[in-house]
Amino acid sequence: MAHNPLAPEWLSSPADANTLASGLWPASAHRSDAGAITIGGISAPDLAARFGTPLYVVDETDARTRAAELRAAFDTEFARIGTTVKVYYAAKAFLSTEIARWMVDAGLNIDVCSGGELAVALAAGVAPARIGFHGNNKSRTEIDEATRVGVGTIILDSPIEIVRVAEAARRHNTVQNVRLRVNSGVHAHTHEFLATSHEDQKFGVVFEDAPSLVAAIRAESSLNFLGLHCHIGSQIFGVDGFAESASRLLSLHAELLTGGPVPELNLGGGFGIAYTSVDDPSPVADLAAGLADIVAAECARRGIPLPVIAIEPGRVIIGPAGVTLYEVGTIKPVRVGDNTRLYVSVDGGMSDNARPALYGAEFSVRLADRVTDAPPALVRLAGKHCESGDIVVDADYLPGDVAPGDLVMVPATGAYCWSLASNYNYLGRPAVVAVADGEARVIVRGETIEDLLARDTGVSTSSTSGVGSTSEVSTSSTSGVSTTSTNDDVKETTR
Ligand SMILES: Cc1ncc(COP(=O)(O)O)c(C=O)c1O
Repeated sequence: MAHNPLAPEWLSSPADANTLASGLWPASAHRSDAGAITIGGISAPDLAARFGTPLYVVDETDARTRAAELRAAFDTEFARIGTTVKVYYAAKAFLSTEIARWMVDAGLNIDVCSGGELAVALAAGVAPARIGFHGNNKSRTEIDEATRVGVGTIILDSPIEIVRVAEAARRHNTVQNVRLRVNSGVHAHTHEFLATSHEDQKFGVVFEDAPSLVAAIRAESSLNFLGLHCHIGSQIFGVDGFAESASRLLSLHAELLTGGPVPELNLGGGFGIAYTSVDDPSPVADLAAGLADIVAAECARRGIPLPVIAIEPGRVIIGPAGVTLYEVGTIKPVRVGDNTRLYVSVDGGMSDNARPALYGAEFSVRLADRVTDAPPALVRLAGKHCESGDIVVDADYLPGDVAPGDLVMVPATGAYCWSLASNYNYLGRPAVVAVADGEARVIVRGETIEDLLARDTGVSTSSTSGVGSTSEVSTSSTSGVSTTSTNDDVKETTR
């Protein structure tokens, strides 16, 4: 079929719109003999029947494997140059107690950036010493709690935090390990990076201010300075931006060594993943090798010892392991000039995937319940919210016979989708189901109307009774709201 002129230039009409492009899907994803997409041994129609839609599905084996392989790649490459590396999982990408445990099982530490994320990590049983605490505006309560439980490191983000963290550490009779987040002036996004002398943004401290701030840290007996931290951005494909930033950081690191020990250097996260068939991110092993080479060369050039390196990837570990399953509700062919675009609306949208509306992120979509040889049609996957920007997939091709009641799946939604989810239009946030070896289990249940009304102080208890109950094997339906809950399956519809 010919290219639809309404499609972006990079998107070509596929020979077969049923194909699952390589690199986009969880490792176990494939089409069954019946044509349904199957993940972790469970087919999309089974998942929809058991748990309802929309549904976040995470391939547990894939997530665990990506975490373990990333760690192994960085361990190997940094051992090659003669140092070690600490890998922190950036929990903001997707955090639940279960996911935190998968990461710890794979030998990773956990990076949190709020009291809430800290509470989840602790509830998961993560040892506080394995936790790094971030944030450009940590509250006094958060700082107090982090020092009280004894988190491994706090990443200081502004001068005032030196005093606040030092005071809290004294209060709790402890010496708190800290890093100082600096702006290296390098900002990267996908294929390009920008190197400036200053960055106009809220995170970290100005590069040139670091020496005096580190001196202030060193003057506090309740603080132990571990080293610098820098995060240059997210969804970065090549190694060049990291190389430029590491080079700048190591010059500052070398300067700081003249005033005392600087045992570590944290290079942040940001490794990119594929969201569409044309995305081609660097393999993790290449990034590890590239970063190790840069650190080795820059340290040798300056004649300084190799620091222990820390990194904080999130998306590259959990992003490709997750998909979102939706049911198609309405289909509207919209004529634009001489061409037509099919608006395919699903039962979720910007409340379960804010990334397209937030920063124009691109995604892909495939029919999940069947294959068909209908010619591909250009579609825009829209949500059900009252916003015209409520788009999940701006442009992709689906078989032209896509119909109401079809299931569709959007790959690579494991990172920054559930964690950015909202209740816009009073939609309940969908459940998260982990699949592996033919088993599926709810690791975060979906929200019911009861949940949505629970904090509204104007609602009397009697008026909510019977609506969206989650008690065992109960079903109710009131004003389009139904919930069925059993021991292991929770099917909820608040849409
Ligand atoms: C300080 C910091 N570290 C790590 C990350 C993780 O980035 P990514 O998920 O792209 O690897 C982020 C993301 O915004 C971040 O702000």
